[in-house]
Amino acid sequence: MSTNSSTLNFDGRSVELPVKNGTIGPSVVDISKLYGQTGAFTYDPGFTSTASCESKITYIDGDAGVLLYRGYPIEQLAEHGDFLETCYLLLYGELPTAAQKADFDYRVTRHTMVHDQMNRFFQGFRRDAHPMAIMVASVGALSAFYHDSTDISDPQQRMIASMRMIAKMPTLAAMAYKYSVGQPFVYPQNDLDYTSNFLRMCFAVPCEEYKVNPVLSRALDRIFILHADHEQNASTSTVRLAGSSGANPFACIAAGIACLWGPAHGGANEAALKMLEEIGTPDRIPQYIAKAKDKNDPFRLMGFGHRVYKNYDPRARIMQKTTHEVLNELGIKDDPLLDVAVELEQIALKDEYFLEKKLYPNIDFYSGITLKAMGFPTSMFTVLFALARTVGWIAQWSEMIEDPSQRIGRPRQLYIGSPKRDYVTVAQRG
Ligand code: SDX
Repeated sequence: MSTNSSTLNFDGRSVELPVKNGTIGPSVVDISKLYGQTGAFTYDPGFTSTASCESKITYIDGDAGVLLYRGYPIEQLAEHGDFLETCYLLLYGELPTAAQKADFDYRVTRHTMVHDQMNRFFQGFRRDAHPMAIMVASVGALSAFYHDSTDISDPQQRMIASMRMIAKMPTLAAMAYKYSVGQPFVYPQNDLDYTSNFLRMCFAVPCEEYKVNPVLSRALDRIFILHADHEQNASTSTVRLAGSSGANPFACIAAGIACLWGPAHGGANEAALKMLEEIGTPDRIPQYIAKAKDKNDPFRLMGFGHRVYKNYDPRARIMQKTTHEVLNELGIKDDPLLDVAVELEQIALKDEYFLEKKLYPNIDFYSGITLKAMGFPTSMFTVLFALARTVGWIAQWSEMIEDPSQRIGRPRQLYIGSPKRDYVTVAQRG
């Protein structure tokens, strides 16, 4: 990595700040010594102009609508690879050889069962608990079961914990779904691939043989690839911050799941589908576009806009194609929600407001239509996002732990509260 420098003139002094250049993308001004040299902090609420770390994992060019996992374009990985291959790539940095892939698949497959006490853990929830609440709790609870893989200073234990989480997320997600519909849990089958195993754990019932639809399994596997990682988004930054204190990996991932749940982030897929259902028919779209543009109305078009993409989210294009593939496979000729979504996109992308603010569909705009068609309830959409993003969180967490420059994350602030003042007794307060 090459460096040069920049000069900041502040309070009558000029301060040299190193500039670091990456492989591709924006350079960074290293301000780590700024406070020591000037007594001032930088200020960047929402971190719109702040790089929190160096990373080799994922790169986004928001203006060009490019997404690379370890340098490979998302379109090529989604087209030619499978989710576990993407997991290997994100974790180890290279695409696996056939032997490495077979070994990785074998290891993941043989960690898919959860401790049987987890069944009792689930009994504590109401049946109508939101599955994301169950996921936050049950992933955090894994810390209570796996004391042999919580020492983050041991690379071997970090890898075991990583494999366990990638392997057990589908099992816990399926359990959360089964619990919500009052059906018995279905155990994983080692002779099924990762995503087919997940579909079977969700939709099989003891009363009859369940045959996985290979087209749906392939489509969902591709959806997992699209959701696997995305630079320093809110939930990944949460996982890194939690991990910087030395918290165990299960607790860190539980923190990431909690953050992802928000409707501005991973919860947008659930919110986007509810929005399409509320709009209902294409003739009602103009009033919702007007609401989205109204400064006094908190309504936003869910599944639209992005902090980084100021162009079409490349994942949304692949998602849209997958939506048509799934609806065709299921014989759904005319999905009113898809009609509304396609019409809404066309209207918004011609509207000055959306063009000027560079608001395009993001990954959450079409995903809900696909997942609903597959049989998942809306409340499970963000659970599936968390299932897929677990590998990204783990890869980023591992990179943070292995980074020699990493320290506990501890931002400062611009204090605008009261200056120092003395205590006043209640009698003197009037
Ligand atoms: C994900 O970071 C990631 O990488 C996240 C993610 C990942 O893979 O991890 O890609 C997954 O979270 C995708 C985003 C899902 N969220 C939504 O779809 C919710 C709707 N979108 C927004 O709330 C918003 O666009 C965000 C949260 C996604 C981005 O917010 P920013 O970058 O802080 O932008 P902003 O809120 O400052 O908006 C800029 C302007 C504002 O208008 P002005 O104040 O400048 O006049 O655009 C407007 C906003 O009002 N705007 C929208 C809008 N999104 C932004 N107006 C209407 N509808 C929208 N969806």
